[in-house]
Amino acid sequence: MKTTADIRREFLEFFAERGHTIVPSASLVPGNDPTLLFTNSGMVQFKDVFLGAEKRSYVRVADVQRCLRAGGKHNDLDQVGYTARHHTFFEMLGNWSFGDYFKKEAIEWAWELLTRVWQLPKERLLATVYHTDDESYAIWRDVVGLPEDRIIRIGDNKGAPFASDNFWQMADTGPCGPCTEIFYDHGENYAGGPPGSPDEDGDRYIEIWNNVFMQFDRAADGTLTPLPAPCVDTGMGLERIAAVLQHAHSNYEIDLFKTLIGRIAELTNTTDLDNKSLRVIADHIRASSFLIADGVLPSNEGRGYVLRRIIRRALRHGWMLGVREVFFHKLVDTLDALMGEAYPVLRTQKDFIARALLAEEERFAQTLDAGMRIFSDLAERHPETIPGVDAFRLYDTYGFPLDLTQDMARERGLQVDIDGFNVAMTQQKDTARAAGKFGGGLTMPAELVAQLSPTRFTGYDTLAGEGAQVVAILIDNKPVQSLSAGQTAVVLLDATPFYGESGGQVGDAGIIEGDGLRFDVTDTKKIAGQFHAHVGSLSQGSLKVGDRVSAFVDENRRRATILNHSATHLLHAALREVLGNHVQQKGSLVAPDRLRFDFSHFEPMTRAQIREIERRVNHEVRANHEGEVHNMGMQEALDFGAMALFGEKYGENVRVLKFGPGSIELCGGTHVGRTGDIGLFKIVSEGGVSAGVRRIEAVTGQDALDLVDDFEQRLEEVAQQLGGTPREAGDKLKSLVAQQKQLQKELDALKSKAAGNATADLGSNAVDVGGIKVVAARVEGLDAKSLRDAMDRLKSQLQNAVILLAGADGQGKLALVAGVSGDAGKSVNAGKLLGHVAGQLGGRGGGRADMAQGGADDLPNAAEVLAAVPAWVASQTGV
Ligand code: ALA
Repeated sequence: MKTTADIRREFLEFFAERGHTIVPSASLVPGNDPTLLFTNSGMVQFKDVFLGAEKRSYVRVADVQRCLRAGGKHNDLDQVGYTARHHTFFEMLGNWSFGDYFKKEAIEWAWELLTRVWQLPKERLLATVYHTDDESYAIWRDVVGLPEDRIIRIGDNKGAPFASDNFWQMADTGPCGPCTEIFYDHGENYAGGPPGSPDEDGDRYIEIWNNVFMQFDRAADGTLTPLPAPCVDTGMGLERIAAVLQHAHSNYEIDLFKTLIGRIAELTNTTDLDNKSLRVIADHIRASSFLIADGVLPSNEGRGYVLRRIIRRALRHGWMLGVREVFFHKLVDTLDALMGEAYPVLRTQKDFIARALLAEEERFAQTLDAGMRIFSDLAERHPETIPGVDAFRLYDTYGFPLDLTQDMARERGLQVDIDGFNVAMTQQKDTARAAGKFGGGLTMPAELVAQLSPTRFTGYDTLAGEGAQVVAILIDNKPVQSLSAGQTAVVLLDATPFYGESGGQVGDAGIIEGDGLRFDVTDTKKIAGQFHAHVGSLSQGSLKVGDRVSAFVDENRRRATILNHSATHLLHAALREVLGNHVQQKGSLVAPDRLRFDFSHFEPMTRAQIREIERRVNHEVRANHEGEVHNMGMQEALDFGAMALFGEKYGENVRVLKFGPGSIELCGGTHVGRTGDIGLFKIVSEGGVSAGVRRIEAVTGQDALDLVDDFEQRLEEVAQQLGGTPREAGDKLKSLVAQQKQLQKELDALKSKAAGNATADLGSNAVDVGGIKVVAARVEGLDAKSLRDAMDRLKSQLQNAVILLAGADGQGKLALVAGVSGDAGKSVNAGKLLGHVAGQLGGRGGGRADMAQGGADDLPNAAEVLAAVPAWVASQTGV
């Protein structure tokens, strides 16, 4: 039997023999592509090549790409588990032509691989073509020899122009074109009709390979612009073709899934291997493990939220299988055994993946049971539609994503009121799940992108550039021909020493000068990854496209920035050495005055670890390594040991930066010549950003010295106050603290003694009201606690008594306590007495019948109010 591993290999061999360069799978997180949540097909990493914005040295390429269809335009999450073929995560076998071969070769090779190499029976294959694509139709009929009744034209069957199963587009915008799809007929035993027929969604005819003929770039308003050169983009789902070649009907019966499902059944004590929940879990462990490997962590927005939904859906299915313990993370080992060979990123990250999954399992476990009970309850009370507010409560309080609730509802034949859910969500003004929304920024029209050559960056070697030509000027992202003084704009030069913000490093500032003109650059960004856009305003003269100018980078700012960039590399390497290889960069800011580095790690760093990191980085600084720059091919760079960052886009040729033996990174940034230039590295803070992500802020060079200076000065001031040298400060402070404790003790003793003295006479001055001893007195300088002590003494001294003490603090306030003891308690209530007194003095208080306290103002009539207490007691007792 052909295993999935055999199929991957044979596919690549077949196309390598036909002149294709084999490239590795790109990350599931597309590099620098704000239009796309995930890599949803093999072509994503080549998008810019189709658009003509990026050139490669090859025109034919093939690969096996890991893909995810969950969230965004292509979203299969809801279907997973309910059909034989849907997945969130899958592998796509693909071959590409960038303006090289076109329809004929693509179709012929597809046919050859399927029928000659893999020996699929020809009579089981059908093809669809886009209704107007006569060329493909003719190739199928005349070149391949497919009978006409097995070539099916598919029109715009989805209700809009180009909305067709045979017109493929990556997203709402971007490259697209007509396609021809090859179908496999699983035979009469399965229900379903051929493509284009009413029951085409059945299980009999299954699409196995899509050949797209990329011809257009689709804009947001729906217009199609022809691509610079027609391209081929093909995609064949590995799981589907494996099912065909392994004579299995469902993808979940192929070798890879069999093993995975076997392990899940074992962990969940499930004997029925056809249970749908097993499939859901099998699919989801692949999706979530690869997402984490590619740097995504569960969160409440964007990619992280899609990941959270996938994990929680899997956990809920585990719960349905009766699992009440954490289990999901235990599958990572099995997955690694199955796929780690083909995907090294999975193997190196597997411990971290398991750790991150466990954390999410533990988090959801706290609310899963309660949420499930609430859902059952709701389902009983609402036999048709679960109200939106309840779905929202499940979401908000119990962490049930909406699609999870919908999933559960569907199992019981119920609906969920989604509008109601959305209303509740909006009302709460939650910032969560900004999935799919990304910030905009600088752009320029596609024609201009195609017309201009990428900016030549000269700033690795020099900070000044003369004789550069202005190639474009943009205002509000639209090209203009000229600028006059006072206008704010973006200027593009053919060559510039200004670094454009990327890789965390901020853009350069400075000035552009020419004949009587001066443009002040406040920042430099990158457009389309290749044009350096000088942002600023013209302060003198006028500027027009075609002008020759000189560009001068602000030296101090750049020089300070590069220290922080190189230090960031050393820090990254040190973190991996000290904390482990799971540490991945999650974000980076390299500014002139500081660096900020976010990385994946689960615990706060200890003080000792932070010190160790500082020690190692400074050690590398003193080693004064030369910053070696190597330009090489991507694969060569990885073989060289270079660390690639997740979610970054790298071209075919990359720049590798090496400092000593420990730090090798792919990086386009600007750096120090030798690490010694950094001078000193000091960590300013370490803290958490979100679950599993920590942040370090640090400074270098003069800023690090200033930080140390500042600490030193503060210490000196402290030492001076303590009357010693900084070295003695610690000991001095220790003895001062001990002394202070001793003094406090003595002070407490004196206070309580003073309270005793102050109240000693009060008892003998008590007024007798019908046998009850009444004390109502003012005492100076006693706080609430001393007052209570005094009252306790009086209570036991007088037995049958009513006591009210007012402690004056000398600042206009009275602390009040009231107490009643003995038989007096039958008629007098301490809380009431306190209320009575406080009420007359603008204060309040309360308590029990025998003891109450409060506070009031020390008003001029205070003495009168206290003097009236015996009369009040008399009124209570009726004497
Ligand atoms: N990009 C095409 C697809 O995903 C091949 O179907």
